[in-house]
Amino acid sequence: MRYLGNKTRMIDNIDLFIRDLGITGKTFCDLFTGSASVADFFKDRYKIIANDLLESS
Ligand SMILES: C[S@@+](CC[C@H](N)C(=O)[O-])C[C@H]1O[C@@H](n2cnc3c(N)ncnc32)[C@H](O)[C@@H]1O
Repeated sequence: MRYLGNKTRMIDNIDLFIRDLGITGKTFCDLFTGSASVADFFKDRYKIIANDLLESS
């Protein structure tokens, strides 16, 4: 699935935001994950918890 309000272009900003604020933790929660692009980006660094109504998610 290509576009669902896709946050791909915002991922670097989300990453910077987390780093700038010094947010630490082992789990990343991507609520209403849609295309799961955000969860996919962070999956190598965190345990991912994601939800969505869509089966494709
Ligand atoms: C704007 S889209 C998500 C965009 C996603 N973050 C991305 O970057 O692709 C909103 C999502 O919320 C999901 N959604 C809406 N109501 C929901 C509910 N009650 N429970 C779970 N998911 C829900 C929709 O299926 C949709 O995929």
